[in-house]
Amino acid sequence: TQKPVQVKLVLLGEAAVGKSSVVLRFVQNDFQEYKEPTIGAAFLTQKCRLEDKVIKFEIWDTAGQERFRSLAPMYYRNALSAVVVYDITSSSSFDKAKSWVKELQRQASPNVIIALVGNKLDLVDGSHEEDEEGDDATATPTAGQEQSRAISRDEAQAYAEESNLLFFETSAKTGEGVVEVFTEIAKKIPLE
Ligand code: GTP
Ligand code: MG
Repeated sequence: TQKPVQVKLVLLGEAAVGKSSVVLRFVQNDFQEYKEPTIGAAFLTQKCRLEDKVIKFEIWDTAGQERFRSLAPMYYRNALSAVVVYDITSSSSFDKAKSWVKELQRQASPNVIIALVGNKLDLVDGSHEEDEEGDDATATPTAGQEQSRAISRDEAQAYAEESNLLFFETSAKTGEGVVEVFTEIAKKIPLE
């Protein structure tokens, strides 16, 4: 067997979009309904086995709260990959994701692999039409935890394409799409 290739990965995004939950799903295949906000950053590792190589992700899960904002460059500076997370029911979190992408493209390493991830897919019912962005006033309360989608898949996909990002929608709660994020990043890592 080959020696794993170590890859530093950083997660960025607005508070409460589910960064830690996506990592918890990937690393422990678990989900917590009431996950406490991250303080500073958390470090976790997980291997990803591909046909021709093993990638060992060294994951820095940063805190989204504004008071930790100044710490972020420390974590993305040497990162080979970045996962920028937003919540598909929150247009402000999508704006924040875009500003992280801009910052990464200016300040992170020039060949950083960036994945844009729209999380909380389980909250929206797939049979509903998407709402206009920011049109929260027309949202109707519904049973259970269902909420209206603020960012359509098409809009995010188009933005990702023009900005050269990988793009995924996920649910840390159900696990949908989570492994794919890390597998697709792993596939883009050049063999040493
Ligand atoms: P900070 O550490 O403060 O930046 O937040 P975070 O981005 O790490 O968010 P966290 O993973 O702590 O999740 C925030 C809340 O959203 C928690 O109550 C989670 O249970 C919930 N959550 C996370 N992902 C999902 C998801 O895919 N679906 C649903 N329904 N809830 C989620
Ligand atoms: Mg967190």
